Amino acid sequence: MKPRKIILDCDPGHDDAIAIILAGKNPAIDLLGITVESGNQTLEKTGRNALNLVQYLGLDIPVCLGASEPLIKQAEVCPAIHGESGLDGFDFDPLQRTYDPRHAVIFMIETLMQSQDKLTIVTTGPMTNLALALKMEPSIKDHIEEVVLMGGSIAYGNVTPAAEFNIQFDPEAAHIVFSSGCTVKMFGLDVTRKVLVLPEVVQRMHKIQTKSSELFVKLMTFFNATQKQVFGFEGGPLHDPVTIAYLIDPKVCKLDFMHCDIDISGGSSYGRTNCDQFDYLKLPKNTYVATAIDVNRYWDIIESSLRFY
Ligand code: RIB
Ligand code: CA
Repeated sequence: MKPRKIILDCDPGHDDAIAIILAGKNPAIDLLGITVESGNQTLEKTGRNALNLVQYLGLDIPVCLGASEPLIKQAEVCPAIHGESGLDGFDFDPLQRTYDPRHAVIFMIETLMQSQDKLTIVTTGPMTNLALALKMEPSIKDHIEEVVLMGGSIAYGNVTPAAEFNIQFDPEAAHIVFSSGCTVKMFGLDVTRKVLVLPEVVQRMHKIQTKSSELFVKLMTFFNATQKQVFGFEGGPLHDPVTIAYLIDPKVCKLDFMHCDIDISGGSSYGRTNCDQFDYLKLPKNTYVATAIDVNRYWDIIESSLRFY
């Protein structure tokens, strides 16, 4: 089986970091590059975190800085969950790695247009970079296999009652992507809140004793503490790696095809993913939405990926 060629667009972020671990050395994935934007923290911090991660994990892939602000809204970063650095809880060695000089949007467009094969774009943060790329060079749509994203929810939000962080951070960007005509696969809170990093998960990964498992344990220890403080969870929901886990083993999630649009009206549901699960509106279906997850299979994928380092 040929590895899936992907670009990972993210805002590291504790759970983004685990997504990078999964994508970095799993033989099912060919990680062509990491593009970064503001989200969990400012661009300066999310970018630095991405460089620290590829350096620590020994990944020889380009890291490109992208959008520092959403398209329309003001940036509202999230230190309450990810800390002041955006990746609190782990001490990295002095940073040697540097950024690829290309802007994330240019890197995305160039890599897509020059690739013989169609590429999968995975987003685990706000979708500002991808939206800008689609507007700057609409023909990249023909070079995108699919967009696989962590974000949204059929049910509740996690930053407002209605909206999930990645979508709500830049609703207009999400609207551009969901209405682009690309194949969109959405892994939202409906499934990610089912994969909590409970103490037994931390202990299981601690036993692996690799560089990546040490990173997992330390980052998740911090992440669990803030998730407990903010949401009262016994373990943090390991949101972002669900995207990569799906690419590694599609049986990990059940997807249902439905119409989904983004509330950009600016009201109390601003940034909500309106997923028409029961086809009330009879609108054209445009999104594969994850509606179930095999939790045990997911932790098996996480464990096996940690063993590649
Ligand atoms: O709502 C969860 C998402 O918001 C995750 O991607 C997390 O990293 C934050 O960006
Ligand atoms: Ca993220």
